Amino acid sequence: MSDSKKFSKLSAKAKNSLIAKMSKSGSGGGDPRRVPSRRSPVAGIHDSMCDFNQLPGYKELKIHQTIAMQTGIMEPYFLCHDGLAKGTTSIGGEEYLNFSTYDYLGLNGTERLNNAACDAIKRYGTSASASRLVSGERPPHRELERGLADFYRTEDCLVFVSGHATNIWTISQLLNRNDMIVYDALSHNSIIHGAKMSGATRIAYPHNDYDALERLLAENRAAHKRCLIVTEGLFSMDGDLPDLPRLIEQKSRYKSFLMVDEAHALGIVGKTGHGVAEYFGVDFNDVDIWMGTLSKSMCGCGGYIASRKAFTEYLKYSAPGFVYSVGMPPALAATSAEALRILVEEPERPARVQELGRFFVQEAKRLGLDTGHGQGYAVAPLIVGNSLVAGLLSTAMHKRKVNVLPIIYPAVEDSAARLRFFLSYSHSKEQISRALSIVAEELPKVRKLATSFSDESASK
Ligand SMILES: Cc1ncc(COP(=O)(O)O)c(C=O)c1O
Repeated sequence: MSDSKKFSKLSAKAKNSLIAKMSKSGSGGGDPRRVPSRRSPVAGIHDSMCDFNQLPGYKELKIHQTIAMQTGIMEPYFLCHDGLAKGTTSIGGEEYLNFSTYDYLGLNGTERLNNAACDAIKRYGTSASASRLVSGERPPHRELERGLADFYRTEDCLVFVSGHATNIWTISQLLNRNDMIVYDALSHNSIIHGAKMSGATRIAYPHNDYDALERLLAENRAAHKRCLIVTEGLFSMDGDLPDLPRLIEQKSRYKSFLMVDEAHALGIVGKTGHGVAEYFGVDFNDVDIWMGTLSKSMCGCGGYIASRKAFTEYLKYSAPGFVYSVGMPPALAATSAEALRILVEEPERPARVQELGRFFVQEAKRLGLDTGHGQGYAVAPLIVGNSLVAGLLSTAMHKRKVNVLPIIYPAVEDSAARLRFFLSYSHSKEQISRALSIVAEELPKVRKLATSFSDESASK
């Protein structure tokens, strides 16, 4: 019998006492009260300090997993897909409608990208072997960086081996404790960690609230040397855009740098997928730092900084996450360089994703579903307003053969818990309609179930 079946057979009292026991002592390990003898130099340090089971974060994880099991929520993470995951995918030999891929432009696994990767492997092997600083570069690195610099009409570009690390090392290399960073409250984790690492004064402004940003800048800017304002080109959880013209005006007046993370905007936002600058028709060079990832529309891995040469050169010689980390595998650089060429050659791809995004919002509204701030792009949230409901709904969708993941507290406020759909060029309108109809059928059932759980625990 599986653990979850065994668990569900326990009485409510036994379940509660199991959770209580786990929260006190972790799911295993020795007696935390046992301490070494007095003469030991480590007297007073519990054995638990050497026990991974006693890590507070791990104990919390186990509690969450237990509660999920108790309520019948299936673990939606780390599912193993049998092959290429497109608009549909096979998991454990069964076909699912798939709304959990970043392959927004539907390029992953296409012949052109596979050939680009295979040709590069034949020529350069699979590894860049060491940091580019010491082991040198391969032509695909340069092609990709030149391509991105041209795409953003900037002087230069530098690619890092991870998108997350790109934000961390770029922000922390630009700022120090004399400086300040102001970022949208819904910014990605990598922006927040980069801000922390920099030592600069950190201030989050409420999501897309430029009056609040104005007040924060007026109050704090003068007390700091440099100031960086950070936003996203298409918000990764909410699927909305920033007011770029207003940000450009504010950053100029407050003598600040402006950085835009285009992880989800590249290839998606703007008539030809050139991102939020194209959408608003502003000069690309009014933004000081264009950041993006290659893991989404570009079907590779890593991140980029497109900016002035002085900045990319500085990062290239000093950012620890670039200097002391291996270069991007040449085959992945070649893949993303080819994906960028296809994006430029085939503007019908971004146009199609935008059409599907608008269709999603329209259909969801027709069915009475809440699309939050979503503006009809590849990131399409459906707000359900409760983490338990989001978890149960994702499980119900899985049972109905639709793969779509929940976003729950603490990733978002509990009241903003949601299912997050990723739409792509590979989807059809019929697939989107079908998935949304299933949501509309399952959501009332799931809400009822969640209420019964709450009533049950309130009566205990
Ligand atoms: C806005 C944003 N920035 C940065 C990253 C990190 O990118 P990667 O997953 O390629 O490391 C992500 C990841 O999804 C993201 O959503």
